[in-house]
Amino acid sequence: MGDIPAVGLGTWKAAPGKVTEAVKVAIDAGYRHFDCAYLYHNEHEVGAGIRYKIQEGVVRREDLFIASKPPHPAWIMIPSKLLSFCFSHPGVYDLPVDCTNMVIPSDTDFLDTWEAMEDLVSSGLVKNIGVSNFNHEQLERLLNKPELRFKPVTNQIECHPYLNQKNLISFCQSRGVSVTAYRPLGGSSEGVDLMDDPVIQRIAKEHNKSPAQILIRFQIQRNVIVIPKSITPGRIKENIQVFDFELTQHNMNSILSLDRNLRLATFPISKNHKDYPFHIEY
Ligand SMILES: NC(=O)c1ccc[n+]([C@@H]2O[C@H](COP(=O)([O-])OP(=O)(O)OC[C@H]3O[C@@H](n4cnc5c(N)ncnc54)[C@H](OP(=O)(O)O)[C@@H]3O)[C@@H](O)[C@H]2O)c1
Repeated sequence: MGDIPAVGLGTWKAAPGKVTEAVKVAIDAGYRHFDCAYLYHNEHEVGAGIRYKIQEGVVRREDLFIASKPPHPAWIMIPSKLLSFCFSHPGVYDLPVDCTNMVIPSDTDFLDTWEAMEDLVSSGLVKNIGVSNFNHEQLERLLNKPELRFKPVTNQIECHPYLNQKNLISFCQSRGVSVTAYRPLGGSSEGVDLMDDPVIQRIAKEHNKSPAQILIRFQIQRNVIVIPKSITPGRIKENIQVFDFELTQHNMNSILSLDRNLRLATFPISKNHKDYPFHIEY
């Protein structure tokens, strides 16, 4: 996992007004990795928590790995005349959508986007760059890009026992690209409660740990970075207390056997985009 701290704090849907406090609690609990995005609309509040703890002397900026994600290229590249044509509302992902509520696709080649991101590294604005939701063909294309200046440090993908991503993880790791598991606890309000799964419950009892801790430890033992989100102080602390026990190989196999190829984040309004990544198996 290299320089990226194995457990980070997810911040999607972490409400402004609560997330600053969550970040402070997280830093005190030992988190040194924060997963953010422009689209989460709370980067200011995350930053306020970080700044507070730096000023308190608890942590230094150079100790922290802070990930962000630029606005979707579709948003940047849409010609302004299109924005006034049939632009109903920004939708859940803040993307411009057409009358049928589908994203207005951009024809930008992601290799061009990558070059622009490489410029950010060259000019010292960011230290590392990575990708998210890339399937193995997209990643291969990026890695084969002529004159690639910087490799992606990670591919951030949905990953939990119901979508264990065995093939994509092994592909990424064989190419020297780390994997970061998002939605590792199954997220919220999706009608799926991973933490209630009887296998997870049984293993949690066996180790005297919570189901969330089992789900997080599962990723660590696969050399996968993991970014559970919480704004609840007790859970924030619990989710990083995962380094004092080890799942057995039998436990790992039982958890792996739960796979049901259940993708929770399908981004349905982007299905018509040329780079929609989930049309192939992995
Ligand atoms: N790149 C992408 O496309 C992408 C997509 C989705 C997510 N992400 C990133 O990945 C992060 C994590 O994914 P996620 O937020 O979708 O889902 P998640 O981390 O799997 O689940 C978060 C939910 O679990 C609850 N929770 C956290 N710890 C718990 C515990 N110990 N016991 C019981 N419940 C617990 C949280 O509640 P409370 O907050 O109320 O405690 C929240 O409702 C996001 O926040 C975001 O940073 C990236």
